[in-house]
Amino acid sequence: MSQTLKAVRGTRDLLPPETALWNRIEATARSVFARYNFGEIRTPIFEDTSLFARGVGEETDIVSKEMYTWEDRARAQSEKPQSLTLRPENTAGVVRAYIEHKLGETGQLQKLYYIGPQFRRERPQKGRYRQFWQIGAEVIGPPSAGSESPLRDAEVLEMLATLLDELGITGWTLELNSVGSAADRARYNDVLRAALIPVVSHMCQDCQRRAETNPLRVLDCKVPEDQPIIETLPKIADCLDEDSKKHFAQVTAALDAAGVPYHLNPRLVRGLDYYTRTTFEFTHGGLGAQNALLGGGRYDGLSEAIGGPKAPGIGFAIGFDRLVLTLQAQQSEQAAEKAAAYIAPLGENMNAAALALARELRRAGLTVELGDGSFRLKKSFEAADKTARRIVILGEDELASGVLTVKTFSTGEQTKVDRTELAKLLLAANGM
Ligand code: HAM
Repeated sequence: MSQTLKAVRGTRDLLPPETALWNRIEATARSVFARYNFGEIRTPIFEDTSLFARGVGEETDIVSKEMYTWEDRARAQSEKPQSLTLRPENTAGVVRAYIEHKLGETGQLQKLYYIGPQFRRERPQKGRYRQFWQIGAEVIGPPSAGSESPLRDAEVLEMLATLLDELGITGWTLELNSVGSAADRARYNDVLRAALIPVVSHMCQDCQRRAETNPLRVLDCKVPEDQPIIETLPKIADCLDEDSKKHFAQVTAALDAAGVPYHLNPRLVRGLDYYTRTTFEFTHGGLGAQNALLGGGRYDGLSEAIGGPKAPGIGFAIGFDRLVLTLQAQQSEQAAEKAAAYIAPLGENMNAAALALARELRRAGLTVELGDGSFRLKKSFEAADKTARRIVILGEDELASGVLTVKTFSTGEQTKVDRTELAKLLLAANGM
């Protein structure tokens, strides 16, 4: 017997009625982004591997362990194979597109959002998948367009608070930090490297390597035994220069003025190398171990790191899967939306007329389920009750007279309705 095929570990199918929730979230996000004057960008699902190596950073967990990378040989024999990677995140791709299409030359701030799948070879668990979805946005542009302004940071954070509120997510916490400029980070790396010398031999293998190559990444370590040592390490706040401190103070002042609550977290350095200055995560207690609902920050040097012009930026990505988990946990077992009507043709010779009636009602804007001539009164009534609020019986008599029988499942009430009045009645019953 052949083995049954299943979705690959870490990937999954999204089915109705859950997809209705995904669509509702997506519609709310698009509407909020539109109000803040963001436009949608769609970048390819795979990119040249070096984009992520240079953008996200060789030493990050994402690049060093989690990417789906392959050698693409489908090119001319004379050419070397190209190393390609399924995107593990979308910021590097957006900045590549910004450079490629010379968006900086418009002199305008670019406000771009995206919704799409990302891929990381992580150990799957609740809220962590190998194919997952992100809803993200980036604000990027030449410094002359105001892209470095702390107001941009505060506006992005205020937009996120608005989006989560509109989605009905309660109980989120905004964790906020500044990792300083590239120079601050270099200084902090030196301070960390020195502080790690006497303790690193007690830490995990990864930390021992990171202590040499990129000490900041030691702070990403999840190994429980290493945490007490990490707690004693110097904090990045002590290495910020005056400009970075001032920038951060302006971000928090604007958040205070807008009434967006936040929690300062000096350990929040984020797992990607491109961050400068403001970094943040919105966490939610209901998510368990994977409690980051979203993450983001400023990346003033990313464009230059991948060969582009100076183009400071700030953005975020929301874990779409985690938003869904949070909302599902909040709304105790959402009732699936039922169709307005189930059309039941009595006998096969009524099938065609039933399709015509369904077409009429659907064109009027109603959600309609269409039965077929195999309809048997008791059994089919039960099936119809599961999918629709009302059933419309269509037999030869009804077709000839133009008067249809409509039964409402919740009340058991049965009425005769003129066919010309049916759409109006159903629309009114559905509050439309
Ligand atoms: P990130 O923190 O790597 O940042 O991911 C953002 C969010 O994506 C996480 O907070 C989490 O909700 C979700 N996420 C990440 N990995 C998984 C996974 N394996 N399964 C399910 N959800 C996951 C970035 O990706 C940056 N590009 C964000 C950004 C945009 N920074 C600036 N602009």
